[in-house]
Amino acid sequence: MQKKPVSLALMSVPHIVGKNALGQAAVYFSGYSRIFVLVDENTEKLCLPVFLDILSNVSITAVIKIKSGELHKNIQSASFIWQQLTRLHAERNALLVNLGGGVITDIGGFAAATFKRGIDFVNIPTTLLGQVDAAIGSKTGIDFEGYKNQVGLFADPKAVIIDPVFLDTLDRKQFRSGFAEMLKYALIMDIALWEMMDNRPFDAMAPDLGDMVSRCVADKISIVEKDRQETGLRKLLNFGHTVGHALETFFLNSGTPVTHGEAVAAGMICATMISSHRQGLDCNSPEIVFEMIDRNFARLNFAERDIPEIMKLMAQDKKAKAGELRFTLLTKRGNAVPDVVVPEAKVRESLLFYLRNQ
Ligand SMILES: NC(=O)c1ccc[n+]([C@@H]2O[C@H](COP(=O)([O-])OP(=O)(O)OC[C@H]3O[C@@H](n4cnc5c(N)ncnc54)[C@H](O)[C@@H]3O)[C@@H](O)[C@H]2O)c1
Ligand SMILES: [Zn+2]
Repeated sequence: MQKKPVSLALMSVPHIVGKNALGQAAVYFSGYSRIFVLVDENTEKLCLPVFLDILSNVSITAVIKIKSGELHKNIQSASFIWQQLTRLHAERNALLVNLGGGVITDIGGFAAATFKRGIDFVNIPTTLLGQVDAAIGSKTGIDFEGYKNQVGLFADPKAVIIDPVFLDTLDRKQFRSGFAEMLKYALIMDIALWEMMDNRPFDAMAPDLGDMVSRCVADKISIVEKDRQETGLRKLLNFGHTVGHALETFFLNSGTPVTHGEAVAAGMICATMISSHRQGLDCNSPEIVFEMIDRNFARLNFAERDIPEIMKLMAQDKKAKAGELRFTLLTKRGNAVPDVVVPEAKVRESLLFYLRNQ
């Protein structure tokens, strides 16, 4: 863990990253008429006391609590947040502090950006996935009618505070979920990060985790600052996600949800297999990638007969254009190309490969 937090900027939004980042953040809470903190029941219990202890001089008007989990990233929760802000007399210069994982930063950003045409919000991600991904890049939104992130908008937070203090209470499953996104950065753009992972199981990386998180934050910022609206380069970040999202929905619908990272890890195996056939990924790399993923993630439990349903979900994804399946593919470890059209048959083959080569 590095000693001092670093300050990075994305479109002039400060991102304070590292040990004691929260202790340096008081400045982002000044000048507001009222300050609200959005939590779920877990972050209320585990993260709010830490926040209140470190920022004891910040005067909080009220805590707004929604139920945890993806199932509650919906219009009812958004409506509840607007209702609470209304009842608690939030004015245009109120601040909403999003203290939680990706669900809280996504829905909190959405609720803040739409309330009275937009009040300020600060993201304080408390999961590894939130810290390396969800809280960065200004995408906000909710799920709607069974589709993930169906309604939302791009909205910039006033600041993003990324402090490892919150990760102490995170369980292994959630840790691994964030780790899948870290692997993604390593594979698409950051071979030095891959080297830091250096054939170690995830648990053995703990001493370097702080540095690795900072690298991921810098990696995401460097992509988003070139393509905030995801017209091109930002699609690189979708590596593993074309198949991953379909698997995530498939398991959610079958009543045995897997984490986002578990689904993306499986998606990265499929995308790597496709890369070796279509993008000339060198012949040693797929095995090295599979080995790293399999060391950290159990294979997901679906069967060959489920593949048509998974393919159907993939075609419905809002990232699919005019029935074409588009993938980010690797050209080598540490380098990728976005938006490659891949025939359905090849995608099906990659799912079969995933099932048969374990
Ligand atoms: N906006 C973006 O660019 C973007 C990018 C990636 C993912 N996302 C979204 O992020 C969401 C997933 O985020 P997530 O994995 O953080 O899920 P999450 O917010 O549901 O958090 C996972 C679980 O961990 C709990 N938790 C949070 N902080 C904790 C802590 N410090 N200690 C113990 N438990 C804690 C939560 O209460 C929850 O039960 C999805 O909705 C996804 O769509 C958004
Ligand atoms: Zn993701």
